[in-house]
Amino acid sequence: MATRHDLTLTWRDGREETVPASENETVLEAAESAGIGLPFGCRTGACATCVGRLIDGAILYDRPPRALKTRHIEAGYVLCCIARPRTDCRIEVGADVQTDLVSNPWK
Ligand code: FES
Repeated sequence: MATRHDLTLTWRDGREETVPASENETVLEAAESAGIGLPFGCRTGACATCVGRLIDGAILYDRPPRALKTRHIEAGYVLCCIARPRTDCRIEVGADVQTDLVSNPWK
């Protein structure tokens, strides 16, 4: 049986939900299994629609997060469609996070 972790999703409006996440599931899949809809587009790590920000914990990608630049990864941004929790995680989610990522394409 796959290891499970607690995945805590937080939104800027103060909402917070903790859902179970199997190591076989992505953050997006774990949220969907719990009935929580998160933004997504390609589901392959290419578009950044699903971007979140890892506040605490560790994730693993099974393919390169093509939509993120190195500086985004260093700043804690994660792609929920391909990120699999490896510990209990706390991730900021929602469209606001993507707005931060793309608000100024020149910085
Ligand atoms: S949905 Fe496109 S990168 Fe995640």
